Amino acid sequence: MKNVIAIDGPGGAGKSTIAKLLAKKLNYLHLDTGAMYRAITLAALKEDVDFNNKKLLTKIAKKVNISFNENGEIFLNSKNVSEEIRSSKVNEHVSQTAAVKGVRDILVNKQQQLARNNKVVMDGRDITTVVLPEAEHKFFLTASLNERAKRRYEEVKSKGKNADFEEIKKSIARRDKLDSERKYSPLKQAEDAVLIDTTNLTIDEVLKKMISLIKGEF
Ligand code: C5P
Repeated sequence: MKNVIAIDGPGGAGKSTIAKLLAKKLNYLHLDTGAMYRAITLAALKEDVDFNNKKLLTKIAKKVNISFNENGEIFLNSKNVSEEIRSSKVNEHVSQTAAVKGVRDILVNKQQQLARNNKVVMDGRDITTVVLPEAEHKFFLTASLNERAKRRYEEVKSKGKNADFEEIKKSIARRDKLDSERKYSPLKQAEDAVLIDTTNLTIDEVLKKMISLIKGEF
């Protein structure tokens, strides 16, 4: 699949930051699929849904309208929810939403459609394995749990909000476990994806490495 770059990896590995920069550099569209699962979770929280109710979660996924603007901001039924989808409540429940097959089927369909009609950099948990296994370039970005927690901690602090490092670390580890052990489309490295451990790399170093690989300079 030409002009399609797929990136997977656990939370806090730098996927979305890198994907956004890469897309800008190549003049591709960036699609943060995690934001889509988060938006459905937010919609479910607003309706006070029991997160064990798979049918209802699927129904919500079917009825809500999710869209992005050119800056990558996400809209839920026309409302900009880019900040709200990063709340701790959404963090707490998003892996439950994402484990529901009905929800995944709806979102995967949208993601595949987008990739058919655009040059795209797409990041998530199952992009290289399920959504776009035929992507021209496939990457798996990871980093140590400690480093990922540190990045999230610093991100929260930089917004002037209170943050507890150990709590953040626990929450990331919990999501790692739920995402990797779920039945449908678990997080795993595709055999033909290039593994990049970003623990000791700057954003710029990761970006340079990926661009060299994409351009076939290695
Ligand atoms: O990438 P982000 O941390 O925003 O993703 C939030 C959650 O959405 C993940 O923990 C995972 O449960 C789910 N997700 C997924 N498949 C994707 C992208 C995200 O299951 N392609």
